[in-house]
Amino acid sequence: MVEYVKRILLVCCVVTAAASVSSVHAVEKKGLLVHASIYGSTIEASYWVKAIIGHEHHLDVKALPQVITVEPYDYVIIGSLTRNEKPVEPIYEFVEKFRAALAGKEVCYFLTCGDTDETMVLKVPGQDAHLIGGRNYLMDMLQSFPEIKPVVIAGFGGRSVKPTLNLKDSFMVWLVGKLAKEGEVGGGLDIWESLVPERVEAFANEVRVKVLGLGPRENVEQFRGYWQSLQPASLADPSKKKFDPRPFDYRHSTDRIHYVRARMPGTLDDGIALLDTWAREAGIDLREQVKNFFNVYYHGVKSYGGKEMTIHVVPSTLPEDPGSVHFSFRSYDKPDNRAGVETDIDRAAQMITARSK
Ligand SMILES: Cc1cc2nc3c(=O)[nH]c(=O)nc-3n(C[C@H](O)[C@H](O)[C@H](O)COP(=O)(O)O)c2cc1C
Repeated sequence: MVEYVKRILLVCCVVTAAASVSSVHAVEKKGLLVHASIYGSTIEASYWVKAIIGHEHHLDVKALPQVITVEPYDYVIIGSLTRNEKPVEPIYEFVEKFRAALAGKEVCYFLTCGDTDETMVLKVPGQDAHLIGGRNYLMDMLQSFPEIKPVVIAGFGGRSVKPTLNLKDSFMVWLVGKLAKEGEVGGGLDIWESLVPERVEAFANEVRVKVLGLGPRENVEQFRGYWQSLQPASLADPSKKKFDPRPFDYRHSTDRIHYVRARMPGTLDDGIALLDTWAREAGIDLREQVKNFFNVYYHGVKSYGGKEMTIHVVPSTLPEDPGSVHFSFRSYDKPDNRAGVETDIDRAAQMITARSK
């Protein structure tokens, strides 16, 4: 009798174990990473993301033309290069084609791009000044497909190999460099890499945590080989660095722009509170233009000597610098008129620096 009961219990245990193994398989999510790339760097970033997520987890990595359906997948990562401050048109067409299906799935977006600073404002002839860089380039996508609410988004930065760009692209890149009021970044380089490895790592780990319910992978630096190469930044001067980011604290004043960049420990809300105090004390009307979960773009408007002027102000958090809030201040007024503006911007920078001590 005792032997019989033991047997029954053993059978029960085996059945329960088998059921729990099959339920583990049932919850293992299947992913698709679909990418659009012209010169290859978005493909490199895609396999890098896959490596951090882990080859033991199902994630198909496919170019856009290789995908005929998203039905088999629980989650979809969409990666694109940036062109004209947005993901490329075929990515919009892909999301449009599968928008109903994607709205019912977990979706993540990432971009490779030249500009990564999410406090950046661009003012070029014929356009209003507007936010650019990193995740800002995904905002049009979010507005175009509001029913798709991405779980994770990122703007990694990217790679530009100037001697191999086609003629049209080469001209565009040259033109954008000339229009940049803060001066061209990556000038004089054959290969310019703006990618911030910590952003790729933070993105892939967020997918692990938020989509797959796993812990973040540690020792992620081991996968940076997906990006590194031995080629020099400049064939004429191999000692040059491929990416020499501007410091987070930076001041640049020319007849085209008065630009100050600063940062302090804290959250985006801390940054907003500091700006409110600064604006109130300086008599500046802080008018919100855009608000995202990671940054805000304000026009700081005030009359200086009877002339109304605008300071472009952006507080932003950056994925590679957790626990800090970054700021940029820009005035496009001419130096003869903007002495008061410069004083007000410098006061803000002092307040931020005081919080950093
Ligand atoms: C013609 C052209 C336009 C671009 N436009 C932008 C842009 O608006 N903003 C930006 O940050 N990067 C821009 N880039 C940089 C690319 O997005 C970046 O180099 C990317 O890593 C290229 O990806 P790929 O190698 O996968 O093609 C542009 C590059 C080219 C060649």
